[in-house]
Formats: sequence, structure tokens, C-alpha cells
Amino acid sequence: MFMRAATVSRFGGPEAVEITKVPVPEPGPGQVRVKVAAAALNPVDAAMRAGVFGGTGERVGLGWDVAGTVDSVGPGAHWSPGDRVIGLATGHHTPLGTHAEYAVLPADGIAPAPETLDDIHASALPLNALSAAQALDMAGLRPGQNLLVTGAAGGVGAHTVELAHHRGLKVTALASARDEQFLRSRGAEHFLPRDAALPSAAFDGAVDAAVLGEAALAPVRDGGAYVGVWPGQEPAPERDIRVDALDVRADGTRLAELSRLADQGIVLARVAGTFPLADAAAAHARLTEGGLRGRLVIVP
Ligand SMILES: NC(=O)c1ccc[n+]([C@@H]2O[C@H](COP(=O)([O-])OP(=O)(O)OC[C@H]3O[C@@H](n4cnc5c(N)ncnc54)[C@H](OP(=O)(O)O)[C@@H]3O)[C@@H](O)[C@H]2O)c1
Repeated sequence: MFMRAATVSRFGGPEAVEITKVPVPEPGPGQVRVKVAAAALNPVDAAMRAGVFGGTGERVGLGWDVAGTVDSVGPGAHWSPGDRVIGLATGHHTPLGTHAEYAVLPADGIAPAPETLDDIHASALPLNALSAAQALDMAGLRPGQNLLVTGAAGGVGAHTVELAHHRGLKVTALASARDEQFLRSRGAEHFLPRDAALPSAAFDGAVDAAVLGEAALAPVRDGGAYVGVWPGQEPAPERDIRVDALDVRADGTRLAELSRLADQGIVLARVAGTFPLADAAAAHARLTEGGLRGRLVIVP
């Protein structure tokens, strides 16, 4: 049996995305195969396509996020065909990703899909919501402490704002002025437009989803916490600030919690538009233009 998948064999711009015909993958021990209903497009997919993570010239599959239905279950994987799930398939050099008709994932990396969301919205959750939750874990702040979130209107940033608010943190969101109302509605207590001068040493911690580096470290107080989103690009530690960088990992248990929080309206899935799998290159081109609010979603 064959299927279509978005892959890249020569790194480059959006035109490097190819729709290839490949054998439908089989789940191994501890894995499930998901019939993909929707799969969000993230900056990491664009980075893989562009060769940011390198590679040795073999074909690379695109797509980390997925929503769909369990279709085949490998030995020891405790799911049933027909289960409606969401999942995260990480990996910078895998031959197949989720921008395909079927995807194989570790069984412990998927979770029940939110009951109140359609597949398109559900597929926008895993990478961004898990990143936000894991970045907050790394920051390690207590309820009542102050958190700065840069890039707050983006996929990771907005979930960081709402989850931090849910944990009882006082959140300051840094984003474009047009996003102020939205971010206050998601739980930001304070708002800073992106060209504002940042107060120095004012926050217990920062999650730097806009990759501002030193500019986001300076507003953190001595002994606070800074969490970046590009391992290797975080600023040098100073003033006893703990400097960490997120490297998101699949976590089905945590994803199930986030799925429940989505059903409760605490985590909001945002979708900017959909593209058929055949037009995946056009979706990459639109992502590259910037200015989106919400994820673009590939529909096979
Ligand atoms: N290491 C990991 O495990 C991991 C996991 C997930 C994501 N990431 C990385 O995290 C970053 C954010 O991901 P994302 O999905 O949230 O991206 P996104 O949806 O594109 O959001 C990025 C946001 O940052 C904003 N921004 C850019 N420059 C800014 C500035 N100077 N001040 C304030 N806001 C600014 C953008 O606003 P405009 O649209 O107005 O420009 C946009 O809203 C990406 O680099 C992604 O690759 C890393």
C-alpha cells in the first residue's frame, strides 16, 4: 500500500517541498500508526526544509504535529484502532513526518484528542502546547511570581501565557500592539509592545519565544530563570540567572492533560488556515511571509 507524504531531498525554500509516493509505514513494537486527519505546520518544519538541522542528503519527512485516528497498533502499544488522538513526532532527520496520509508514532507520545475540537484545531496543539508546558517547568517559578513571555502572540508564546496564568504566575506579554487585547484575554496581566524599552531586573523569569536572547535576559532579576527556545543560541548566564533552552519532547501523559485543558477552554487552539497536502509548498511559502496568528494546517 502506498501513500503521499511531504518530504525534502534537497534543502531550500518552500519549493524544496516535494509530495512523494512512499510505502505506508508499519508500526513496530510500542508504536501506533495514525491515519492523519490534520497536521499543523510549524517553524521547525520550515527549518528542517531549509536544512537548518543539517542532514546527509537522504530524504527527510516533514511534519511533527498530528491529529487523526489510530489505524494500526504495534505489539505492546495500548491503543485501539479507531481511537481519536493527537500526537507529536519529533526528529530532525526522520524519513517520514506527519505531513502525510499516515504517520507512525511512539504509543507513549500520543493522547486522546480534545473532545470539543475538530481535527484541524486539535492538530495545532501538540508541539506548541507541550513546548509551553515544558518551558514553564524549566523556568520553575512559583505562583505569584512574575514571568515575561516574549513572542507572546506566537504559537509557543500564547500557550505559555495561558498556562502560566493557569499556574498562578503574573504574566507580562511582549508582542505587537495589535495583540494586546488577545493576550490580556488569555491571562496576561501586563502588556509590553515589542518596541518598548524593557525594565531591567524586573521579572523572576522569562520564556523567550521570540528568541531575543540578551534583550530578554536583561529584564530578569538576579538569581531568576531564563528559558530559550533554540538550544545553543541562549545568552551567556549572568547574575546567577539559570539559563536553559527548551528541547521539546513527546510526552503522551502531559499531552493528555493539555488536551483536557483545551476542552476546559484554558488552552486555546488557533488556526490561521488550511492547505491540502498537495499544496504543502504553498503552506510553507505562506508561513515564510510571517504575520500569521494561529497555525497553518495541512490536510491530507
Ligand atoms: N527548542 C524547542 O523545543 C522549540 C519548540 C517549539 C518552538 N521552538 C522555536 O520557538 C520559536 C517560536 O515558535 P512559535 O511556533 O511560537 O513561532 P511563531 O508562531 O512564528 O511565533 C513567533 C512570535 O514571535 C513574535 N516576535 C518576533 N520578533 C519579536 C519581537 N522582537 N518582539 C516580540 N515578538 C516578536 C512574532 O510576531 P510577528 O508575527 O508579529 O512577527 C510571532 O508572534 C521558533 O523559533 C521555534 O522554532 C523551539
